[in-house]
Amino acid sequence: MAESVTERPDSQPPLVQERASQGTGGLVRVEISTPVSIVVPTYQERENLPLLVERIARLKDDYGLELELLFMDDQSGDGSRQWVMGCGHDWVRLIERDGPRGLGPAVLEGMRVAHHPVIVVMDADLSHPPEKIPAMILALHSGQELVIGSRYVAGGSTDDQWGFFRWFNSFVATKLALPLTTVRDPMAGFFAFRKAELDRADELNPVGYKIGLEVIVKCRLSNVGEVPIHFSDRIHGQSKLNFKEQLKYLQHLRRLYMYKFGTWSHLAQFLIVGASGTAVNLVVLYVLVGLAVHEKLAYALGILVSLMSNFLLNRRFSFSYARDQSIYKQFLGFLGACSVGLAVNYSLFWILRDSVVGVPLWLASLSGIAGGMGFNFLISRYLVFRSGTAKTKMAP
Ligand code: GDD
Ligand code: MN
Repeated sequence: MAESVTERPDSQPPLVQERASQGTGGLVRVEISTPVSIVVPTYQERENLPLLVERIARLKDDYGLELELLFMDDQSGDGSRQWVMGCGHDWVRLIERDGPRGLGPAVLEGMRVAHHPVIVVMDADLSHPPEKIPAMILALHSGQELVIGSRYVAGGSTDDQWGFFRWFNSFVATKLALPLTTVRDPMAGFFAFRKAELDRADELNPVGYKIGLEVIVKCRLSNVGEVPIHFSDRIHGQSKLNFKEQLKYLQHLRRLYMYKFGTWSHLAQFLIVGASGTAVNLVVLYVLVGLAVHEKLAYALGILVSLMSNFLLNRRFSFSYARDQSIYKQFLGFLGACSVGLAVNYSLFWILRDSVVGVPLWLASLSGIAGGMGFNFLISRYLVFRSGTAKTKMAP
């Protein structure tokens, strides 16, 4: 799918002003001239609020920042609201949400209600150092579309307590996002961007909790910068991100792939399902043979079971947009497509071996397989699993 490029005005209003430093040490003194909205999703973070607000207040003074700090709270009921009301800063607000709960919806709502042209999203648990915000705004000022507070660029780090499991988890999750963006820390919940970028997205889906990644993909941002941070472990309270959230991350990735790659993502899922069918076929064969079923019968059953599992997986994933159509009709259509696909496979093999001189056996058979699968895919995609309205539309 072609990347749509939105023209941006030649001269963006400057976000910072640099002055020659009067003191020793620094090369320039930076004053942030743009107002900034900091959006912080919170759920039961009462103990972390005072230190976070204190650190951000210091930043506000040091840089002459015009600031609003929005806590998007999901009815924590732990005194967070009372503390914010009594904290004595009129630029700090806590919005008690009553919409759908969750980090994703909270951040999106915060981005919507933010008043200022630059938005920073960060966690409340002091994992993200607010002192890095000026560097992030400076990077925006110099032309970057979105800037991440990143653990994985030179100079970035995480606390040593990260066990192997958490590290490995984060490693795999990061690699899975590579087709979407080449940034080093796509999972980050600490990022800054101009609110105006949001106009480039059709809609942002709150289901995934990696809202930074959602913004990068949906707004088609290509110029994404990373500023190194030290990601500290939270001292107070507990992480709310559990295994269920990680499964949601996979769903989120899938949706973003579909958004970015359209039909190619249907094909990729179709091929993965096909590969899983081979595995199912083998497992059924060996299990049944192990149970003393005759191998010819076992093989036939293997084919049958893999055909059904392929059908169900394709219906659930590859072509999920057509799930509202009759499953029986689709199953018959799928069987038909597979049978004709087999014939295509076999004929291609024949034609290549008989009428093209010098085609080796392996090439003829691979071509047959590719032709049969290609046929299967096209018929499945455009005939069997067509939906009344949507063409390349994603599942909701
Ligand atoms: N409003 C609201 N509702 N806020 C929530 C909810 C919720 O249901 N669940 C979590 N939060 C808030 C927390 O209060 C915290 O401020 C922030 O979201 C992050 O939650 P943590 O529980 O601290 O998440 P984490 O430390 O495991 O995850 C962090 O690392 C990820 C990368 O590894 C976060 O920074 C993620 O944003 C980041 O993607
Ligand atoms: Mn955290």
